[in-house]
Amino acid sequence: MPQTSDNPLNHHRTANAPKSVLVVCLGNICRSPMAEEALKQQVAIAGIDMDIQSAGTGDWHIGETPDSRAIKTAKSRGYHISKHKAAQVNKADFGKYDIIMAMDDQNLADLLEIKENLLNENKSLSSDDLAHVVLFGEADPNYATKYIPDPYQGNEADFEQVLDRIESAANSWAELWR
Ligand code: 4NP
Repeated sequence: MPQTSDNPLNHHRTANAPKSVLVVCLGNICRSPMAEEALKQQVAIAGIDMDIQSAGTGDWHIGETPDSRAIKTAKSRGYHISKHKAAQVNKADFGKYDIIMAMDDQNLADLLEIKENLLNENKSLSSDDLAHVVLFGEADPNYATKYIPDPYQGNEADFEQVLDRIESAANSWAELWR
């Protein structure tokens, strides 16, 4: 069976506006910094107060600013991400955030593995005590696949397409929560 999030969309934990969201991709230099800003903007327009941050599953780019192509594509649509510093997702994030959103299937699998390990390490915790792990594209009815692909090896058109998808998904979450 294909792996899906641990939290179906009709679950109350995603249908109600969370207090905090962590958006996660692989490097935290392309997709998730753009998604952080797009979601912040949509949530602000909806008048919802929410703490939104981003991180990567990998450690290669910790402390770096975003990829220049991501900065440029984002800037062309009014998102300023050049001051972002890449961070790696860690175990404490699962206690800190209400929802952790994965960009693609690999990010999702990696996040669910961290959560599973935490539950195995601490038997007094239940799944609902930790962040719910979902796909960023999960609430978006406009695309057949819910995975937002890695544009790192791609060209400028790939970054534009990825940002199209990110904006559509961010808008869908805000619609759900408003
Ligand atoms: P991101 O893109 O996950 O959208 O930030 C990537 C950035 C860097 C690498 C892969 C994907 N990398 O292999 O270094």
